[in-house]
Amino acid sequence: HDESLARDVDAALRSIPDFPEPGVVFKDFTPVLLDPALRTRVVRDVVRRHRGGVDVVVGIEARGFIIGAVVAHELEVGFALVRKEGKLPGATHSVSYDLEYGSATVEVHEDAIRPAQRVLVVDDVLATGGTAAATCDLVERCGGSVVGVEVVLELGFLDGRSRLGDYPVTALLTD
Ligand code: PRP
Repeated sequence: HDESLARDVDAALRSIPDFPEPGVVFKDFTPVLLDPALRTRVVRDVVRRHRGGVDVVVGIEARGFIIGAVVAHELEVGFALVRKEGKLPGATHSVSYDLEYGSATVEVHEDAIRPAQRVLVVDDVLATGGTAAATCDLVERCGGSVVGVEVVLELGFLDGRSRLGDYPVTALLTD
């Protein structure tokens, strides 16, 4: 594990109080994207762990698309999108999960992942873990197998990891 990378990402993350609602401190990772050297180190850290072991990278809307697509490019594998409901034009699998108030649904194209493919799930933040767990369900509905969940930041106090069972979760940084 690259401690200096975790430190540098931590320094780059920006805390925005009361976003998206009062009482929540939003961790904004867009400064990491603006810094080409730091962004490259983040991507290489993920790529190093998974080279040769992945057939498809799945990025979770919206910020997971950014890191995920670059990781897929570096690994020279396909990239699949997990999106909020109603956004994907083709036939989809769909999984709903509970939020504090209400529920959310994510979708993937049925043919984005083929049976037995090894799938790496990428996102910026793991919070309650609901989105990542639903994404892993989607991968399995397609017949794929999740080889890892990679996030830049894990909000450890929300214990999202516990919703991800035995899937190997790696966070560059834990808050
Ligand atoms: C954020 C984040 C993760 C998800 C994590 O996305 O990028 O995808 O929430 O939360 P969870 O672990 O509690 O499920 P957001 O819902 O803000 O969507 P956006 O990236 O499209 O704005």
